[in-house]
Amino acid sequence: MPKALLTSLAASILALFLPSALSADIDLPAPRTEGGTGVFDALKKRSSAAGGDFSPAEVSLEELSTLLWAASGLNRGESGWTVPMADGLAPYVDVYAIGNGGVYRYDWKGNKLVEISQENIKDKIAHQGFVRRAAWILAFASNPELLAKLRRPETGPEFAQVLTGAMTQDVYLAAAALNLGTRYIHSFYAEELQSGLKLPEGSVPIALMLVGK
Ligand SMILES: Cc1cc2nc3c(=O)[nH]c(=O)nc-3n(C[C@H](O)[C@H](O)[C@H](O)COP(=O)(O)O)c2cc1C
Repeated sequence: MPKALLTSLAASILALFLPSALSADIDLPAPRTEGGTGVFDALKKRSSAAGGDFSPAEVSLEELSTLLWAASGLNRGESGWTVPMADGLAPYVDVYAIGNGGVYRYDWKGNKLVEISQENIKDKIAHQGFVRRAAWILAFASNPELLAKLRRPETGPEFAQVLTGAMTQDVYLAAAALNLGTRYIHSFYAEELQSGLKLPEGSVPIALMLVGK
């Protein structure tokens, strides 16, 4: 075989394997989607965990996967989600997961966490001291590219807030069912969050949800 052909073959094989070898994305285990606490029991239990309630105990990836699925996972085929979206669009609020080991964006299609950085930004994003103690912090930020597809794009900011309300309430209910603590946080440092999550131009951070045991 000619040397040039050999080299290009070797490069193609390397290119096939290298991205996955270097990628620190996390493939999530399947979320829990059946059984468990009934919705009325979860509604009766729903509450915000007090700041002092967050312990250093870990939240498993299966628990995290279930909370993320509750927030914006597929529940019917290829285009039906746990939350209602205007104009039948795909989720136009992105959910990020902030952990000790880094920052990730939830990819609802692939049920995985896409790595944004390996930095621990928990200390920087909010003034309430207990925020950093949550095992995971979910961050909700608008997706300008998808919001531009609304029939009336001027409703985007309002609709992103409405969607975040639905997503965070789903997180509250799923956390109640899983016996996890959670708390909605609006007091965050928007600029720190924008840079820590590497938000695209025009994306607005809307809320945080602390998750812990
Ligand atoms: C829009 C909104 C903003 C909030 N912001 C904060 C916040 O910045 N810090 C915080 O500790 N709790 C925050 N919370 C949680 C509320 O304080 C909590 O929901 C309220 O005390 C009622 O308690 P409950 O959720 O247990 O019923 C927020 C809740 C909502 C709905």
